[in-house]
Amino acid sequence: MKRIIILGLFIFSVITTSLAWGWTLVAHPEKKVEGGLEFEPLCPQARKTVTAPEKFLKMKNPLPPSHENIFAGQTLFHFDSQPGPCRVCHGISGNGLGILFRELTPSPRNFTCSQTIDPLPDGQLFWVIRNGSSGTEMPAFKNLGDDQVWQLIHYIRHFSKEDH
Ligand code: HEC
Repeated sequence: MKRIIILGLFIFSVITTSLAWGWTLVAHPEKKVEGGLEFEPLCPQARKTVTAPEKFLKMKNPLPPSHENIFAGQTLFHFDSQPGPCRVCHGISGNGLGILFRELTPSPRNFTCSQTIDPLPDGQLFWVIRNGSSGTEMPAFKNLGDDQVWQLIHYIRHFSKEDH
């Protein structure tokens, strides 16, 4: 009889502990929910990024959007850029939902959103890639050559084109 009571108490405590855990997980899902939709790329995307100095805003991408340049930008975006590849934040498909996305406020830019990205001058993108966006997790990529930054910009811009 005593054994049955002890077993009963054990089962009871296991059930209550798992229920409590279940409740904790439900209460702290650590999910980012915006506009009621989880993991939907936002477009248009709210943007409070500092505007680049005038001399940058006038800059135009000097490289042609050749396959070679876009491919070089693609390689940097997905693998080679340091301190880390753009992909981990901006996502494999450029929609801003990379694997680190849930850790980041504000969210990484969604390059597939033409409404937000197309009006930005080349020089604005250049300045942010080189210097980072202060007060956000967007790092400065100081060790990239100018050509590499322009190659990245050709690659980033292809995400908002319909036929990419
Ligand atoms: C650790 C995460 C992280 C990595 C890695 C990262 N970004 Fe970002 N990026 C962000 C965040 C967050 C923002 C949003 C910043 C803001 O709202 O001002 C952003 C914004 C941008 C913007 C928007 C600039 C603007 O004026 O709106 C560009 C362009 C950009 N990133 C390019 C890149 C490129 C190219 C790489 C790789 C070479 C890269 N990012 C790597 C997090 C990251």
